[in-house]
Amino acid sequence: MGNSKSRSSQTSTAISALKVGAVIAGAALLAFGAVIAGTALLAFGAWSLSSSSDSSENKSRKDGVLDRSGFELQDHKGDDGYHATASRLIKVMSYNVWFREDVEVIRRMEAIGQLIQKHSPDIIFFQEITPYIYAIFCNSQWWQLYECSVPPENVTKKYFCMLLSKLPVTTFSNKSYENSIKEICLAKVDVGTNNHLVVATTHLKSPNPPKMNSSKRIAQAEEAMSLLKNLPNVVFGGDMNWDESSDGPFPLDEDWVDAWTELRPGKDGWTYLRPQKRLDRFLCKLRDFKIIDIETIGKKAIAGLSYHHNSMADRVYPSDHFGLLLTISN
Ligand SMILES: *[C@@H]1O[C@H](CO)[C@@H](O)[C@H](O)[C@H]1NC(C)=O
Ligand SMILES: *[C@@H]1O[C@H](CO)[C@@H](O)[C@H](O)[C@H]1NC(C)=O
Ligand SMILES: *[C@@H]1O[C@H](CO)[C@@H](O)[C@H](O)[C@H]1NC(C)=O
Ligand SMILES: *[C@@H]1O[C@H](CO)[C@@H](O)[C@H](O)[C@H]1NC(C)=O
Repeated sequence: MGNSKSRSSQTSTAISALKVGAVIAGAALLAFGAVIAGTALLAFGAWSLSSSSDSSENKSRKDGVLDRSGFELQDHKGDDGYHATASRLIKVMSYNVWFREDVEVIRRMEAIGQLIQKHSPDIIFFQEITPYIYAIFCNSQWWQLYECSVPPENVTKKYFCMLLSKLPVTTFSNKSYENSIKEICLAKVDVGTNNHLVVATTHLKSPNPPKMNSSKRIAQAEEAMSLLKNLPNVVFGGDMNWDESSDGPFPLDEDWVDAWTELRPGKDGWTYLRPQKRLDRFLCKLRDFKIIDIETIGKKAIAGLSYHHNSMADRVYPSDHFGLLLTISN
C-alpha cells in the first residue's frame, strides 16, 4: 500500500492554520477519497473486499489451508505486519482520545497518530472523538489505511465512539443502550480464516460523585454482555469507566476474560491518569483465537507542552487516558 502513504500529506501545521469549518469540509472530501482508494487497494490486496459476498465466500472458505496459501501467493504489499503464516497476529488498539479541544488537541492527536504508525494496529477503537478530532484524523497519513465505522456525513454528535479496521469489514452496526443515547459500536471483520471475529467498542456512563452512577453503568455493561453472548469470537474494548470499588466485578460470563487481569495479574494497569484507575478494558470471548499480549501505550508526556490544570502548569500527555494495545492470534 505504498502509494497510499503519499496521498495525504497535509501537515498538522496546515490544519492548525485552517478554520474548523474548512477542516471539516476538507475531511469530508478526503474521507470520500479514502473510501475509493481503500476499495481499490483492498481489491488488489490479499484481503479482497468481495470476500463478504456469498459466492466468493464459498470459494475462499472451502478450505482453510488453501485460504492461507492464497495469502502467501498474493503479492500483499502491506507494511502493516500481516504475514501469511499459519498463525497470524491481530492487534487491536483502544484509546479514549480526550475530547478537550482546548488542550493542545492537534499536538495530542499527532502523538496518537504516531502511536498508530508505530504499533500499526489492525483494528482501532476510539472514544470521545469530536467532529474536530475526526477532521484532524481524516487528514492524517495513517487514516488512509483504515475503513471507518463513521462516514463524514454521520459526524453529528458532540463526541462519539468509532471503530477503524485494516481488515475487511463485513458489517458495521450500532446499538444504543436502553438507558442512554450512548451506544455500543460493532464490526464483523474478515480475518481470512473460517472464523469471523466481532469487535466492539463502547464508552460506558461516567461516574459522578457521590453515587458514581454505578447502577446505570452496570446496566449498560450487562446489556452489552447480553448482546454479545452468543457470538463465538468477540473482542469488546473501550472506556468502561469501571471501578471495582464502586461497581463491583465487571459482569463477565464464564467464557469471558478480562485480558489485562488474565495476562498481567497483580499489575495495576492504570489507563486513567488522574486519579489513577483502570477504567479502560479489553474483554474477550474467544473460541478460535488466543490472547497473546496486552500493554498500555501513550504514557510519555509530550515534550515542551504544558497546560493549566487546577491552577498549576501540568504536563500534556496524548490523552487523559493511556491507550491499550491487545494482540490476539488464531
Ligand atoms: C456454496 O457451497 C455450497 C456447498 O458447498 C454449494 O451447495 C453452493 O452451490 C455454493 N454456492 C456458490 C454460490 O458457489
Ligand atoms: C449513517 O447514518 C444513517 C442514519 O442514521 C444510518 O442509517 C447509516 O447506517 C449510517 N451509516 C454508517 C456507515 O454508519
Ligand atoms: C453509529 O454511531 C455513530 C456515532 O453516533 C454514527 O455516526 C454512525 O453512523 C453509526 N453507524 C451505524 C452503522 O449506524
Ligand atoms: C449520576 O449520579 C448523580 C449523583 O451521584 C445524580 O445526581 C445523577 O442524576 C446521575 N446521573 C444519571 C444520568 O443517572
